[in-house]
Amino acid sequence: MTRSAADHHLYGDLAPWWPLISAPEEYTEEAATAAAVLNSASIPVHEVLELGSGGGHNAVHLKSRFDLTLVDLSEDMLAMSRRLNPECAHHQGDMRTVRLGREFDAVFVHDAVAYMTTEGDLRQVIETAFAHCRPGGVALFVPDHTAEAFEPVTDHGGSDDPGGRGARYLEWTTDPDPDDTWIQSEYAFLLRDADGSVRVVHETHRTGLFSRPAWLGLLAGADRVEGTLFGNGERTIVRNGPAQRDTSNAGIQCRGVERDHPVRAVAYERHRSAAVRTRAKIVERA
Ligand SMILES: C[S@@+](CC[C@H](N)C(=O)[O-])C[C@H]1O[C@@H](n2cnc3c(N)ncnc32)[C@H](O)[C@@H]1O
Repeated sequence: MTRSAADHHLYGDLAPWWPLISAPEEYTEEAATAAAVLNSASIPVHEVLELGSGGGHNAVHLKSRFDLTLVDLSEDMLAMSRRLNPECAHHQGDMRTVRLGREFDAVFVHDAVAYMTTEGDLRQVIETAFAHCRPGGVALFVPDHTAEAFEPVTDHGGSDDPGGRGARYLEWTTDPDPDDTWIQSEYAFLLRDADGSVRVVHETHRTGLFSRPAWLGLLAGADRVEGTLFGNGERTIVRNGPAQRDTSNAGIQCRGVERDHPVRAVAYERHRSAAVRTRAKIVERA
């Protein structure tokens, strides 16, 4: 059965397994890539807001560089993140609607943006990011895929802890209908408790898949942005492939209301990045 993001077992009762399913070490390179983009703002970047921060596995790598505020829909995931990142501020909230009443030097939306399955949802997240971003700051979005590059995914991973708990997962992600804006992932989780008992959980997740023009249009159309895009469509979605393109030139730059201090928006596809290829290798070794 497909459940809404708020009802997923993975981010609810299974949250204590998150560090074994998707270990913090797997985020090291991705977080470094994100940090470089966040630091490409035209103002010094100290205060960073992460929307959809999950178990805090990016935050654990970013918190030495930035003063982090973390927002997630799931109290169970926030509880895991608080244990890992007690020095960070945590807030429960929906990335579409949360308003913290303050601004940050940069806003980071990593893989959790995948749970936006309609253009309306995605627009709201982009508006949330801009609403919290200071003039001169950067809003960074890292969708798992874009429609142009999507290929069906089969993946597996997981790890064990020293106390005898272990988790393994199998993932199949397909696009049942290329004409709509969502794809579907079937997950099987095999979970071994410290007492040796094992259970299996199957869960279906529906996540968003948007074309690059849709991303660009939404980024250009966010409320605080007047809509001037710099660069062409190919250059605006940054791929951190082996060539390591210069994100300072390849990002999307939108003129904000304050013309002298545009808020810069950068998006790149997570599954195209060199960091994720490395992560995939780590998963294979586990
Ligand atoms: C794959 S996990 C993120 C993992 C994260 N990158 C980490 O470092 O641990 C996806 C997260 O998105 C969150 N999420 C889904 N929909 C959301 C929404 N509308 N607003 C905020 N968080 C949301 C889930 O609760 C979940 O914690």
